[in-house]
Amino acid sequence: MADEKPNIYSDRFSGKRVLVTGGSRGIGAAIARRLGAEGALVAICYRTRSFEAEQIAQAIVDNGGQAFTIQVDLEKSGSAQQMLEAWDETTRSLVGDNRLDALVNCAGITSAAPLTEIFEHAYDRIMAINTKAPLFVSAEGAKRMYQGGRIVTIGSGAATQPGSLNGAYGMSKAALLAMTRSLAVELGPHGITANVVAPGYTKTDNTAHMLSVPDFAEKVKRVTARDRLGMPEDVAALVCWLASDDSGWVTGQWIEASGGYKMVPPI
Ligand SMILES: NC(=O)c1ccc[n+]([C@@H]2O[C@H](COP(=O)([O-])OP(=O)(O)OC[C@H]3O[C@@H](n4cnc5c(N)ncnc54)[C@H](OP(=O)(O)O)[C@@H]3O)[C@@H](O)[C@H]2O)c1
Repeated sequence: MADEKPNIYSDRFSGKRVLVTGGSRGIGAAIARRLGAEGALVAICYRTRSFEAEQIAQAIVDNGGQAFTIQVDLEKSGSAQQMLEAWDETTRSLVGDNRLDALVNCAGITSAAPLTEIFEHAYDRIMAINTKAPLFVSAEGAKRMYQGGRIVTIGSGAATQPGSLNGAYGMSKAALLAMTRSLAVELGPHGITANVVAPGYTKTDNTAHMLSVPDFAEKVKRVTARDRLGMPEDVAALVCWLASDDSGWVTGQWIEASGGYKMVPPI
């Protein structure tokens, strides 16, 4: 983190098994690293960045933990089931059964066109990756949460805050609230919680082009209560708490991790 040290617990996830989509880069990579550092067996799912995903898995293993990678393109029909079948195969060989304790839906893409000008194929793609995939991954994941579980899905402030090019992205993220509240009700009796974490501007590959526009990062900081930009580790801290046993009484919630973005009024 930029100005503070995360409080890494040595064994909060000891004996726990967690799958993270979008684990090769950015926020998902920080989540995977932290889960591994806190004792979880972590499946790091990625689409193209096998090198980065393998590096994260190897670092966890070198540190005495357990981790493996799964390649998946979540835009494709049937990909959620295939990803969880890959989970089944590897966890059965590593630990004897396919129990899943927590799932983090982090993979996502952004839109780059005004809502009224977006091409149909671009809309379908963003909805497939950001909205449809978290639903089917959660449904497949929940089948493996025999001892209860945690589903954490990454939303975005764009769900309620329109920008010039992010209308379709906002739509895809807003739907995650309805999804999460339904999952919370349907799965609550099975000891499974579902929550959304909505990051503010966070320094990743995804935002590099925006944050490199002169003065843009300064403007974001100026309206942020914590007076700095978010780092992936800032978001990972909340996600990991929601993925832990401690969060059992919190479900169906949309929680912002933005350092208080837009709380400071522009003068
Ligand atoms: N950064 C921010 O400021 C911010 C703010 C609000 C919300 N968010 C949300 O936070 C999440 C992570 O964002 P980020 O900034 O960390 O993004 P990022 O650095 O661009 O990483 C995106 C991740 O998603 C994976 N991914 C993309 N398309 C995929 C597909 N079709 N199938 C499977 N995996 C796919 C990528 O895999 P590969 O790299 O292997 O291709 C990568 O691991 C996203 O849901 C995003 O909407 C981010």
